Amino acid sequence: MARIKIKTLLTDTDTGTNVLVKGWVRTRRESKNVVFIALNDGSSLKNLQIVADPAIFDEKLIARVTTGACISVSGSLEKSQGAGQTVEVIAEQIEILGDSDPEKYPLQPKKHSLEFLREIAHLRPRTNTFGAIYRLRHQMIFAIHKFFNDKGFLNVHTPIITCSDAEGAGEMFRVSTLPVDGVPKTAEGKHDFSEDFFGKEASLTVSGQLEAELGALALSEVYTFGPTFRAENSNTTRHLAEFWMIEPEMAFYELKDNMDLAEEFLKYLVNYALEQGAEDLEFLAQRAADEDKNKPVDQRPELGLIERLRFVMEHPFERISYTEAIDILKNSKPNKKGKFQYPIKEWGADLQSEHERYLVEKHFKKPVILYNYPKEIKAFYMRQNEDGKTVRAMDILFPGIGEIVGGSQREERYENLLQRIREMHIDEQGLWWYLDTRRFGTTPHSGFGLGFERLMLFMTGMTNIRDVIPFPRTPGNAEF
Ligand code: 4AD
Ligand code: MG
Repeated sequence: MARIKIKTLLTDTDTGTNVLVKGWVRTRRESKNVVFIALNDGSSLKNLQIVADPAIFDEKLIARVTTGACISVSGSLEKSQGAGQTVEVIAEQIEILGDSDPEKYPLQPKKHSLEFLREIAHLRPRTNTFGAIYRLRHQMIFAIHKFFNDKGFLNVHTPIITCSDAEGAGEMFRVSTLPVDGVPKTAEGKHDFSEDFFGKEASLTVSGQLEAELGALALSEVYTFGPTFRAENSNTTRHLAEFWMIEPEMAFYELKDNMDLAEEFLKYLVNYALEQGAEDLEFLAQRAADEDKNKPVDQRPELGLIERLRFVMEHPFERISYTEAIDILKNSKPNKKGKFQYPIKEWGADLQSEHERYLVEKHFKKPVILYNYPKEIKAFYMRQNEDGKTVRAMDILFPGIGEIVGGSQREERYENLLQRIREMHIDEQGLWWYLDTRRFGTTPHSGFGLGFERLMLFMTGMTNIRDVIPFPRTPGNAEF
């Protein structure tokens, strides 16, 4: 008999048929003449109830059916007598595939703290919460590829090892095979990377954008979706040292086209999750609502998770320029009352997440797209505006998250790009290939980056980014 997944069995299979299921035991309950086993194989949030008559099974075998054990069960699928499930399997045969020591198994059938579960990230996918998060993560990955595929975008793999710092923020992890002690030195006493594996200093990429641009300037519309790495020492609930980023890049798009695409994309993903992940979302919504009850009233979100998702889907995002945002922030209550950690004094200030969240959560009460930022606080590649002060950047800010998307129209004019590279003291030789695209058939083009884990924070209602990626990497932490 072929094994059938629990999800299929709970939705598509007729009662009265014989089935074979395999999975991990969540709980075992017994009374005098019946044993109930809750079995989960990860295909759905719901467990399958197995009913075993102790009279037909060896006592020793039943004793080994403990929380955490992996078992195989065959029997007949029947309408359930009990509340809580529509069908159950009346066991005819039970085989133990893998024993588990109930004394030592770290996951007990009770609520564990998220902090504790992070310490057992190898086992946490066996909990309801992480099962739901893993399944939704998969659905979002699938939806992302579907969105772009349906629009005719090509997926390009951009390199993970690179010699250029796309964001120019100097937050890169070096990739080297040089010995840790005694790195060779040049005559001037500097590290000599010519003897290193790539013959020059190499790092893990912070963004696939620059190479995605090369794709767009030949194939029109492309996207890259890969891991990115940032050695920024920020131990926050929204930063990872290793995270996944979706970066579309489009020839012939100007800033407005870029914003339109990003807004459509985010709404598509939210809609997809609501339609395809309803069961897991409802579970996570309930979970978030329970957590919120422990918060002080003024810190509870006004809307529940599902309502938040619906709201984002149904309302146009607010679009305002950086200059307008600064005016709002300058005159805001928290700024006047000295409540911001970083008070907004003048035009040109970089926005901190407290400012972003004020705009989204208090002022507009909806997602906001901020555009036309001062060039001093943005990367070298952004299209300069005619005012000489701002660049065609756009960031999308979300409630509870802050920045979820960062993007821009790109500087397509060779002279202007070169001038900015020089002003910012960026190694122009290293970017010869990037500059080349502005010499041969350049055109206006744009793109953006969506932080996948920031998206997952929004989708799941989780509040720490370490809980929406299977194996988080943060300063001081690379276990598993
Ligand atoms: O704003 P960023 O730095 O933009 C870029 O890297 C551009 N090259 C993207 C592009 O235009 N193709 O990063 C983009 C997004 C942010 O908005 C945020 O969602 C996410 O990536 N992000 C992080 N997510 C988790 N941990 C970190 N340390 C992150 N840094 C950025
Ligand atoms: Mg950014």
